[in-house]
Amino acid sequence: MPTIHVINRAGEPSDFEAETGVSVMENLRDNDYEVEAICGGSCSCATCHVYVDPAWLEKLPAQEADERELVSDEPTYQPNSRLSCQIEMTEDLDGLTLTIAPEA
Ligand code: FES
Repeated sequence: MPTIHVINRAGEPSDFEAETGVSVMENLRDNDYEVEAICGGSCSCATCHVYVDPAWLEKLPAQEADERELVSDEPTYQPNSRLSCQIEMTEDLDGLTLTIAPEA
């Protein structure tokens, strides 16, 4: 199983073994990382906002227009912002490193 490295909202780093075939958001939510994911992954709430380590950004699937529009409207937006519900977890993402964005 691939590993995800996470820095939580308290700034604490930790790792966990991720499930593939589901989104990064589902992995974070199911491992109690305080990702609310109010919309359930339909790209309409932005409560699954994360900052992806820049070294990983280009290895991720490209951002669709609806994700880009939603996340760039967030007050906590940064150039490495992604909505974790729009990233499917795969073996290729072993070592993915991200930070949970602050609540907007
Ligand atoms: S869970 Fe709502 S936008 Fe990702």
